[in-house]
Amino acid sequence: MVWAITHHDTLQELLADPRVGKNPQLWTTFREGRLPRGWPLINFVTVPGMITADGEDHRRLRGLVTQAFTPRRVADLRPTVEARTVALLDRIAGLDGAFDLREHFAYPLPMQVIGELLGLPPKQQDELHELSDTLVSSSATPEAAVAAQQSLFALLASVVAAKRAEPGDDLTTDLIAARADDDRLGEPELVGTLLLMLVAGHETTLNLITNAVRALLAHPEQLRLVLDGTVPWSAVVEETLRYDSPVGQFPLRYAAEDLPVGEVVIRRGEALLASYAAAGRDGAHYPDADRFDLTRQPNRHLSFGHGPHFCLGSGLARLEAETALRFLFERFPGLALADGPEPEPIASFVSNSVRTLRVTV
Ligand code: HEM
Repeated sequence: MVWAITHHDTLQELLADPRVGKNPQLWTTFREGRLPRGWPLINFVTVPGMITADGEDHRRLRGLVTQAFTPRRVADLRPTVEARTVALLDRIAGLDGAFDLREHFAYPLPMQVIGELLGLPPKQQDELHELSDTLVSSSATPEAAVAAQQSLFALLASVVAAKRAEPGDDLTTDLIAARADDDRLGEPELVGTLLLMLVAGHETTLNLITNAVRALLAHPEQLRLVLDGTVPWSAVVEETLRYDSPVGQFPLRYAAEDLPVGEVVIRRGEALLASYAAAGRDGAHYPDADRFDLTRQPNRHLSFGHGPHFCLGSGLARLEAETALRFLFERFPGLALADGPEPEPIASFVSNSVRTLRVTV
């Protein structure tokens, strides 16, 4: 049994409730070994790291990477983000006719930035992205899910081995040092943390940039508000996060005790799904929730999570998305959706966006 938590206020309460945990040992179905092999969402439950840990264990793992994402460290990344953005836009200027903005812009920007932070070899980034796509897709076959998981772990283990042999100025090297110093980080946790940073660090921002461009092009009157300076680019980022949350749903949390919620009781050992996309459209919380409205105030959405697992990369994501959108629309004021059928949604429980976004400049 899994409960989808779709109402904003209930979700906010449960995300901060100490009786709700992320350690899979709290989940009866998992403890009793009832999950089938190749279950596509298994990594969200079992990969050792922040997203499957509670309390002291969670603080230890999160503490190891927190210093890489302080507001100061993120601000220092601005010149890198801007330079990468300009280089990608230069390449786009050379393309002929309609092209997929997701592939040529929204994906490579966050991937290059997280790749540099983690010290991932640029040549392996496309392969890492494909494997990570399979990991967040809930529609992969069991065989494909298992194969992608094994390849991804093997690839990241080889990155760790290479950095052990030749340390660099990156987060992977820092994590290896933390592992060597004392008992702060186990080997599976080291690879699990890299995996989490890789996937969380690019799949999400990729969706945010895609969803924002799509919403702006579908609402020209809102686009005008930002182009004429009535609202800042940050308003586009925040309203897109609410209106079309890049993380549709995040698996899983578990009730450590019976939890009365409204008229139901979530029983101890049952699982909860944080339904961020639904919460962003909760009409009981947001007036006119289905309207894309850049002047919306206040706009305190939950799309970066809430409570102890609040997104560690929110500052970086905001920097990347704001830069990407501002530079894109300034460079190509004639940006438009290409003719053709409506883009298809990604077949994923977690990742909320479209598979392609064909545009012309
Ligand atoms: C956690 C959303 C970008 C790293 C989360 C959570 C959400 C989220 C909803 C909470 C999941 C849960 O427990 O229910 C997003 C969105 C992003 C984004 C919408 C971009 C638009 C990033 C980036 C990074 C990152 C760029 C890293 C560079 C993490 C990590 C966690 C996390 C490490 C786990 C924190 C923990 O369990 O303590 N994110 N994220 N995220 N995010 Fe992000």
